Amino acid sequence: MSRTILEVTDLRKDYRQRRGLVSMLTGQGRVIPAVDGVSFYLRENETVGLVGESGCGKTTIGRTVLRLTDASSGRIVFDGRDITTLSRAELRPLRREMQMIFQDLDAGLNPEMRVRDILREALTVHERPSDAEIAGRVRELLEQVSLKDSKLANFPSELSGGEKRRVGIARVLAVRPRLIVADEPTSALDISIQAQVVNLLRDLQKNLGLTYLFISHDLPVVELVSQKVAVMYLGRIVEMGLAERIAHQPRHPYTGILWSSLADKQTTEVTRRVTNVAVERERRTWGVFDFEQPTSGCRFAPRCPLYKEKGRPAICTDPASEPQLRDVGHGHVVACHFA
Ligand SMILES: Nc1ncnc2c1ncn2[C@@H]1O[C@H](COP(=O)(O)OP(=O)(O)O)[C@@H](O)[C@H]1O
Ligand code: SF4
Ligand SMILES: [Mg+2]
Repeated sequence: MSRTILEVTDLRKDYRQRRGLVSMLTGQGRVIPAVDGVSFYLRENETVGLVGESGCGKTTIGRTVLRLTDASSGRIVFDGRDITTLSRAELRPLRREMQMIFQDLDAGLNPEMRVRDILREALTVHERPSDAEIAGRVRELLEQVSLKDSKLANFPSELSGGEKRRVGIARVLAVRPRLIVADEPTSALDISIQAQVVNLLRDLQKNLGLTYLFISHDLPVVELVSQKVAVMYLGRIVEMGLAERIAHQPRHPYTGILWSSLADKQTTEVTRRVTNVAVERERRTWGVFDFEQPTSGCRFAPRCPLYKEKGRPAICTDPASEPQLRDVGHGHVVACHFA
C-alpha cells in the first residue's frame, strides 16, 4: 500500500467577520467556524474528492492544508512532518511540493505577461535553470498539458477558458509538485471542456504520480476522479468512504440529496436553476446556511428528510449529541444517528 502523504487531524478554521461600525472599531466580530473539526488522510498517488455545496468550507480546507492560511487549531502532517506551525522560511522548501490549482481561471496569470514568460517565471521561482533548460522544460510542459507552441506568444486575454486552465496547470507542474489541491478546476468551464480537463488531470496523475485533493460541488465529477470521497456540510465531514460506495450506497441523508438532485439527467440548466431557487428559499426560511444561527445537535436537521420521516426525533436536535463519524464497514464513515 502506498504511503500517507498528507494527514489532517481535527482541523479547525474560524474566520472573524467584522460587520458594522461597532465591530470594526472594537475589533470584535462574529466568529464563523468555516472548518469545524475535520480529519482525513491522502495516500501517495491517490485522489480524495471533497464535495459539498458552496460555502461549506472546501476552499478553506484546501488553503489551510497548504498553509496558505493558518489553521485555528488541529494538525497537518505532510510527508511525515508536522507543518501546522512551520514559519514562512521553514515552509519555503516545501512550497514547491504542495501546490494549488485555484478556482479562478485567471489566478496566477499576469495579464501583462505572455504565456512564455508566465511559464518561465514559474520555472525560476525555486531554481536557476539555464536558458536551454528553460526552453526544454517549457516544451515539456506544453506537451504535458496539450497546448500548441503558438500559444506561447499569447497574453492570457487571448486564450479561451480551457487554454487558461491548461496554462494554470502547466504553471503548477513547473515546480514538480507531489500534492495538488485542485479547487473546482472545471467549474468555470463549458461541459465539453470540463471533460477534457478531467481527463488531463487523470493522465497527469498517472504519468507523474501526483496526489490530488480534488474539490468540487459537483458529485458526479468528484466520483469520476476520486478513489475516496468526503462529503461536507457546514464545516464538517458528514460522510466519507470509497468513491463507489458514496456514489451507489450513500448512507447520509445529505449525500442522498446531493445525488438525487442530479440523478435525473434532466438536471439541465433549467432544473438546476429551479433547485437553486428552492435551496435559496430554504436558506432564507431556515437560516441554515448562516453560521450565525447554528442548529443544536445535528446541523443538517433543518433540511433532513429522514428527520421529518422519523417524526423529528429529539436526539437529532439534542445539543449534547451532535452525530460523530461512525464506521459502518468497509472504511465507510457516516455522521448520522440513523445511518
Ligand atoms: N477570508 C474570509 N473571511 C471571512 N469569512 C470567510 C473567508 N473565506 C471564507 N469565509 C467564509 O467561510 C465559509 C466557507 O467558505 P469556503 O471555504 O470558501 O467554502 P466553499 O469553498 O465550500 O464554497 C463561508 O461561510 C465563507 O463565507
Ligand atoms: S442525525 Fe437526524 S437530522 Fe442528522 S442526518 Fe441523521 S436523521 Fe438527519
Ligand atoms: Mg470554494
